[in-house]
Amino acid sequence: MTGLEQHKTYRDLPALAGLCEMRRAIKSDWSLDESVTRLKRLHYVLRRVHETLIARIPGEPIYELKTLYSHHAYLCAEQVTSIRSRVGEMREPPLGLDKVPDLGLESTLDELSRCPDTVQFLSGVYLVVLPECLAACERLRVDAHPVADAPTVRIAKLMAYELTELCQTGTPCIDCLLLNENEAANTKWKNHLQAYLSSCGSIDGTLDPQDGTPEPWYPNEKKSYQHEPQRDERFRDPYNAGVNPEAFLYDEQYAAADKTLMIYYKRLRELDVPEVMATILTDLGNAEPWEFHMEMTRQLWDEARHAMMGEVGFASQNIDWTEIPINFTWSKNLNTQLTPRERHGVLFFIEQGLMPKTGKRYEWEVATESGDPLAKLFQDFDWADEVLHAQIGRRWYVPRYKSLNEAMAFGDECWSQVLSNWQEYKDQGLTEHRNWWPELYTKVCKHRGVTPDPNTLAFHETYEQKRADLETL
Ligand SMILES: [Fe+2]
Ligand SMILES: [Fe+2]
Repeated sequence: MTGLEQHKTYRDLPALAGLCEMRRAIKSDWSLDESVTRLKRLHYVLRRVHETLIARIPGEPIYELKTLYSHHAYLCAEQVTSIRSRVGEMREPPLGLDKVPDLGLESTLDELSRCPDTVQFLSGVYLVVLPECLAACERLRVDAHPVADAPTVRIAKLMAYELTELCQTGTPCIDCLLLNENEAANTKWKNHLQAYLSSCGSIDGTLDPQDGTPEPWYPNEKKSYQHEPQRDERFRDPYNAGVNPEAFLYDEQYAAADKTLMIYYKRLRELDVPEVMATILTDLGNAEPWEFHMEMTRQLWDEARHAMMGEVGFASQNIDWTEIPINFTWSKNLNTQLTPRERHGVLFFIEQGLMPKTGKRYEWEVATESGDPLAKLFQDFDWADEVLHAQIGRRWYVPRYKSLNEAMAFGDECWSQVLSNWQEYKDQGLTEHRNWWPELYTKVCKHRGVTPDPNTLAFHETYEQKRADLETL
């Protein structure tokens, strides 16, 4: 009789805390080295996918892709973080997590980051690289020793769960955007990336490496990245700064229910924050540690969610958001006029300013008073997110300066330097700064079955003389 046959648990209770059966646990074909090697390879790839998604946010015009990239970059960042902490449990520093584990992986990710075509990029991420990461996680889950390396098995399972979701939400985008005439070229491109991965034994290096590394598909392209934010054609009149929502919001003569419209507008306009944060992250790159990228990516994703809360808010009021000019000149001006540290300063200054009585609390009070339960719900969470963002700023921005006051003053000063170009945009024929408020207000009143209040209808304050914190320019 072997030891295995003799092994019994008390009254047949599940063995080994439910990790696995004894016959699996007695297998010894696993090692700490193997575990660290595979995790490091996955780490490298997911970190590069994160970085590539972030870099594409400003230049990607399509709203749905901007928010998708923000979400998926955040999920990749969380996975990178859990791998890093697991590797840190198994190895003494230096962990070597900044090293390229395999030149084949590097070439694959370089190709992806240079890819100038949206559909090809999506295909590369969601049909090649991430499915291969998913397969590597599945192998890791099965191969890692379930008792000795249980913490690795756990993260491999969680990663596989999330990667499945990433692929499931990313893949349909390809079908929506791929034109028939490009199908053949797209298939060739996918095979090309797959060949790269095959040449190095896939993401985890466990498959037999295939001979021959392909020639680069885009040898002369630079990394797909630009500071100038792009918006799709549904963003009509994006230079329009003809309505100052803060001026309306903080004016006591207007009703809370009407102010929620300005709150929804402000939320949706926050799409410009991921655009700015993406350039801070991309430009600073290795000048900041991973923890900086992780926390700032969380914030970037929160801001994308805030924009979507605005989108949902307008949908709940039966308003087609594309009829409202969503201004993008804040991100455009910051990204093209300031350095990354200066942009971070402005971001911190604005976020810190949102914390006192007049900021997020006030928006929450207005939303509560408005009787719109959705506005209240959204502002509840918007406020909570903002508390987190102020903490992130205090951890990663303030320590660069002598004091909080100095850090704030720098941000304020940088913001003051930014030219709003209000008149220039008008002179160049980019916008008329049309007052869109009466139209929106009238539509909402009609939907609500109420008569527009003449005083509210007559609101007409612009950004010509005042910036968003109501400071005079
Ligand atoms: Fe926000
Ligand atoms: Fe924020």
